[in-house]
Amino acid sequence: MASHEVVIFGASGYSGLELLRLLARHPNIEVVGASSDSSRGERVFSRLPEWPSDLVFEPHDDLMRRVTRAQTALLATPAKTSAELVKLLFDRGVSVVDLSGAYRLQDPRAYVDWYGFAHPYPELLAKAEYGLIELNDRRVRPQTPRIIANPGCYATAAILASLPLVVANLIDNSPIVIDGKSGVTGAGKTLDEKLLFGEVAESVRPYRVARHQHTPEIERALSFVAKRQVVVSFTAHLIPMRRGLLTSVYARARSGVRQEEVDRALTDMYAAGRFVRVVRDRPPETGILTGSNFAEVGAVLDERTRTLIAFAALDNLVKGAAGQAIQNLNRLLGFEPNAGLLPERFEQRNAGSPA
Ligand SMILES: NC(=O)c1ccc[n+]([C@@H]2O[C@H](COP(=O)([O-])OP(=O)(O)OC[C@H]3O[C@@H](n4cnc5c(N)ncnc54)[C@H](OP(=O)(O)O)[C@@H]3O)[C@@H](O)[C@H]2O)c1
Repeated sequence: MASHEVVIFGASGYSGLELLRLLARHPNIEVVGASSDSSRGERVFSRLPEWPSDLVFEPHDDLMRRVTRAQTALLATPAKTSAELVKLLFDRGVSVVDLSGAYRLQDPRAYVDWYGFAHPYPELLAKAEYGLIELNDRRVRPQTPRIIANPGCYATAAILASLPLVVANLIDNSPIVIDGKSGVTGAGKTLDEKLLFGEVAESVRPYRVARHQHTPEIERALSFVAKRQVVVSFTAHLIPMRRGLLTSVYARARSGVRQEEVDRALTDMYAAGRFVRVVRDRPPETGILTGSNFAEVGAVLDERTRTLIAFAALDNLVKGAAGQAIQNLNRLLGFEPNAGLLPERFEQRNAGSPA
């Protein structure tokens, strides 16, 4: 299949570099622009040894000036920046996959409450699609520009763990408690005293308690599926590792629910899923997922307390960011769903098999 040109804004950040790393191997995508103000003039291969060309990081404004509607843009920029860039690109007829939270919510007021800024283009929020592939994998091949809001890292894991419980109606209507733990790359390259090695090493701490911005995103996705208002209480924790993320989900089981139904709900949900594996012989864990676009999920019914405990693990920079964005890109452009994310032989071996 012919190759398609892509540009990346925010290419020097953790998620941007991960996009470049994965796209270097994509059979149908050519990256023709990578923006960074702080790294302007630097060759991409000086950051990413396997990068195959002489591509140079260029200032954001320069890339914006030369992007064309025949290309697709990936944004790995802070939410406030993405809110502006998406508008500029969309108005010029360019489709966008945005890795930030700028277009994940529909209610403009939620941006003031959870992101701390007034959304500058509230009218565009309704045009954005939420790009959780496990909820929506229809290929699009758009005639008109599209805005895909790539899900947040915690939100992806929290939703993947909770979805089977909600879809199979295994839990009651009380709030779902979600505990998330992430390595430090989840915070990006921001200079922050709290992210210094001396502060993070040998320590675990919660942050943004009762006000983490992924809370409304998780509620929105689960409420959409449940066709009722789902409320979650979500707490994020920073843990001393570079990458990887685990969510543990606690929900009240409906009376009579048994472990076999829980097992079936997970299998039914993810049997056809390409990048979500149900694990039963051990709990999901982050270690083996480093660099992979796979997420692992599992769930256990605690009979004694009637609590359903579900887990999801993933690499925050791959399934939680760049890998999922490439799944969205593949869907948008009509490429093979696994393109750039798995070796071809793998797909043949696993096609159609249960997770
Ligand atoms: N890290 C994760 O695990 C993760 C997971 C899912 C989603 N995300 C989302 O992905 C986005 C990027 O996150 P990250 O962790 O990769 O961040 P990061 O490491 O801090 O990198 C941010 C990138 O954005 C660029 N940037 C900053 N301010 C800009 C501006 N005003 N205009 C244009 N570009 C600007 C930076 O370029 P300069 O060189 O010019 O500074 C840099 O390339 C965020 O919205 C984040 O929420 C991150």
